[in-house]
Amino acid sequence: MNTTQRVRKAVFPVAGLGTRFLPATKASPKEMLPIVDKPLIQYAVEEAHAAGIQHMIFVTGRSKRAIEDHFDTAYELEAELEAAQKHALLKLVRELQPDDMSFSYVRQPRSLGLGHAVLCAAHLVGNEPFAVLLADDLMTAPPGGEPVMAQMTRQFDKLGRSILAVQEVPLEHVRRYGIVVGETVEPHTLKVSHIVEKPMPEVAPSRLGVAGRYVLTPAIFDILRDQPKGAGGEIQLTDGIARLMTREAVYAWEYSGKRYDCGSKEGFLEATVELALQHPEVSESFRNYLKGLSL
Ligand code: G1P
Repeated sequence: MNTTQRVRKAVFPVAGLGTRFLPATKASPKEMLPIVDKPLIQYAVEEAHAAGIQHMIFVTGRSKRAIEDHFDTAYELEAELEAAQKHALLKLVRELQPDDMSFSYVRQPRSLGLGHAVLCAAHLVGNEPFAVLLADDLMTAPPGGEPVMAQMTRQFDKLGRSILAVQEVPLEHVRRYGIVVGETVEPHTLKVSHIVEKPMPEVAPSRLGVAGRYVLTPAIFDILRDQPKGAGGEIQLTDGIARLMTREAVYAWEYSGKRYDCGSKEGFLEATVELALQHPEVSESFRNYLKGLSL
């Protein structure tokens, strides 16, 4: 790989079953659950696009067809909106597929873990660096600042090596995350010396948890091809990254911004309330409604 190569492609692993949101996710993808009026996957795609990424690669599974439809042209809908002169809505629908954005879909035939999902995209990514975005983790930019993936691709342009988004998490939550240890090499940037998937709090080497944003070099694919199963009997991306570190440097980026764990009900509700309070159409009335609640 040419280390000066820019990140042009993003992989979205979306094959997961979303069991924590049953029955909502029985027949609909969890990534299509909306926060206010936009599905989770669209937030992630827009974040990638804002980082200059144009090729979106979805690793899908059965009952995920709605994601393909969402990013496809909806002729009947557009014709009706046009006839009804609903120009603002038409714009909203068309903006989903800017001219410079392309989409690819590949199936993950079995739920073998995040590492396996990323490997399913290898032939579409090829020999170049790429981003991975987990749509469950909704990331908002700091006020007036850059979105998280744009922060990471900027760091990648400088460092030319894999970068993981990290944040401090409460000790009782370390078993939900990949946990890293590293040495600070520049502000907000650590060189990772150790990474472990979902440790118990008693043995966690730190409280720095990996959020669902990665920029990876293509060297990860060769590693994932023979990666044995790890935590939960799954092929873990974290374990692949641990092996990648023996070949080349891996960095962690302490991002600015806010992460909502929309894979959990609490995180999903927090995101809904906070993004509603920022939504131009409903913020004022929703704020008044909240103020009137006797909690
Ligand atoms: C995955 C990764 C984990 C990471 C987390 C971030 O876990 O395996 O390392 O910290 O995403 O959300 P999951 O949430 O899919 O169990």
